Amino acid sequence: MYKNLKTGQVIWIVLWILELTSCEFTVTIPKSLQVAELGQDVVMACSFTMNGDLDIKNIIITWQRGEEVVHSFYYGQDQLHTQSRSYTSRTSLYVSNIIKGNASLMLKSVSAVDRGDYTCSVSTSIGSQKKTFLLVIAAFYTEPVMQIKVLPQTVAFSFYSEGYPNSTIQWLSEDGLDMTNLTDSSYTEKDNGLLSVKSTLMTKRNLNTSFTFILQNCVLEQKIIRTFSLISDNAPSKDYDGSCKNNLLLLVPICFFVSVTALAYVLMRKHIDTSTSVPTLNQLLP
Ligand SMILES: *[C@@H]1O[C@H](CO)[C@@H](O)[C@H](O)[C@H]1NC(C)=O
Ligand SMILES: *[C@@H]1O[C@H](CO)[C@@H](O)[C@H](O)[C@H]1NC(C)=O
Ligand SMILES: *[C@@H]1O[C@H](CO)[C@@H](O)[C@H](O)[C@H]1NC(C)=O
Ligand SMILES: *[C@@H]1O[C@H](CO)[C@@H](O)[C@H](O)[C@H]1NC(C)=O
Repeated sequence: MYKNLKTGQVIWIVLWILELTSCEFTVTIPKSLQVAELGQDVVMACSFTMNGDLDIKNIIITWQRGEEVVHSFYYGQDQLHTQSRSYTSRTSLYVSNIIKGNASLMLKSVSAVDRGDYTCSVSTSIGSQKKTFLLVIAAFYTEPVMQIKVLPQTVAFSFYSEGYPNSTIQWLSEDGLDMTNLTDSSYTEKDNGLLSVKSTLMTKRNLNTSFTFILQNCVLEQKIIRTFSLISDNAPSKDYDGSCKNNLLLLVPICFFVSVTALAYVLMRKHIDTSTSVPTLNQLLP
């Protein structure tokens, strides 16, 4: 008796929940941040409750960005005369899926200016609702091009990469000390909409140095970690001074040799001159 009552209650609750959800008209968008990759196509997901009425003519879908109409659908077809110019030929709905409650919009070749708040509004014979979300534009940073420039006293470690939006850069020494303060980073906006970054760490030329940089694109949760290692067998400063001294030491005998040779040549020349002048004198004499 008690068992039966309990089952009856459960059934009643389930029916009540079903009835409640089926009556309520909702528009659903993803809870996660919507990110579009720069230059790529994006599907902005949006779905709505369908209930019995399978007549597509009773469904009105409007996509807006602020006041701008991105895409409009009613009377069972796209209504593109109302569309804002910046979206011409760039949008489409999945028309055959609309009847299944799919109002997702495909937006083609996304650029940086497409970032913004988008609203998906749906109206059917059982109700209407709208939902707004932020569309963020991003691009993964490219594999960094790394460069080491070795000068007599200093070494410059640098890398170059491009992505979108802005990145954060951190440099660490071998011991894990933050060297970011000692670095120089420059950011440039490129024609393709990407941001390029070049970061350089300049240090004294030490033996066996190693530095690590961390490049992050927070929007895409991208993290690039690369390490520079410079290995050398002998001390650069000694090497540099030594070669100078060696050159000086070599120079002394060379100078000596050159001077002696020159002197010998001059002396010999003098001797030859006198010896050749003798016959001339003899010739002059009768
Ligand atoms: C809508 O339909 C498209 C195409 O089949 C699909 O890619 C997308 O995931 C659907 N969206 C939703 C919210 O169901
Ligand atoms: C990127 O961030 C850096 C520092 O974090 C800043 O100096 C630079 O102006 C930013 N660039 C752009 C294009 O936002
Ligand atoms: C170095 O960086 C730290 C944060 O890591 C900052 O608080 C400090 O002001 C910086 N020092 C200089 C000289 O830029
Ligand atoms: C630097 O490292 C290399 C290889 O790891 C080693 O052969 C060399 O002796 C090191 N130089 C110094 C000065 O420690």
